[in-house]
Amino acid sequence: MDPNEVHAVMGPNGSGKSTLAYALMGHPAYQITEGQILFEGEDLTAMEADERAQRGLFLAFQYPHAVPGVTVTSFLRSAINSIRKARAGGEDDPIAIPEFRTELLEQMDRLKVSRELASRYLNDGFSGGEKKRVEILQMAMLKPRIAILDETDSGLDIDALQIVARGVQKLVSPDMGAVVITHYQRILNYIKPDFVHVFIDGRIVEEGGPELAHKLEAEGYERYEVKV
Ligand SMILES: Nc1ncnc2c1ncn2[C@@H]1O[C@H](COP(=O)(O)OP(=O)(O)OP(=O)(O)O)[C@@H](O)[C@H]1O
Ligand SMILES: [Mg+2]
Repeated sequence: MDPNEVHAVMGPNGSGKSTLAYALMGHPAYQITEGQILFEGEDLTAMEADERAQRGLFLAFQYPHAVPGVTVTSFLRSAINSIRKARAGGEDDPIAIPEFRTELLEQMDRLKVSRELASRYLNDGFSGGEKKRVEILQMAMLKPRIAILDETDSGLDIDALQIVARGVQKLVSPDMGAVVITHYQRILNYIKPDFVHVFIDGRIVEEGGPELAHKLEAEGYERYEVKV
């Protein structure tokens, strides 16, 4: 996929969408037994998750984990600094605190994330929707080259869905590509996909444009599920 393209991945429960996202991100619990992950001319397959993140991959989790003891602010600052360090060839190049704070407040206001969350421990006691918003805040702060959004729309209220989806769409051009894993066409009204992929049993079985998402919503997955 090219940078600034949006690919939607739709498929039934248990078809392997989250597994694909974890495998792309380098989750240590998943072992890649076949195939390669190529990104901007580099083979990422053997890289650790943090090395992939430093190269610009980002995953917004379907079920974000709590990180007790680490505030949202300090988590974001160390994530940014780790990416900056890698880009500076391994030399420390920390972001200036005032610059960081200004941008954090700006992005929080833009994504309508309550300022009170910044000083709380990451995802600890956050509501479902707050976790999803903070995932997108992370994305906005880290400015990845490709963001994988795993069911970011589930659990968001109607206003939050629009805010979050518009936030993503704004980042998409010109520098960021996105893989949007979703069950519903609705989020794709705001994040316009260039391609829609149907994912069944760990494989892409059909590809099309945005119209395919409408068709899936109307017809379901039944016609794909003729198992051999
Ligand atoms: N760590 C694991 N070990 C063994 N099986 C797993 C593991 N993680 C997921 N699975 C199984 O792999 C299959 C695919 O799961 P996955 O979470 O990727 O589905 P999904 O397409 O994201 O579904 P949903 O739409 O419900 O989020 C499921 O049967 C799941 O139980
Ligand atoms: Mg999933």
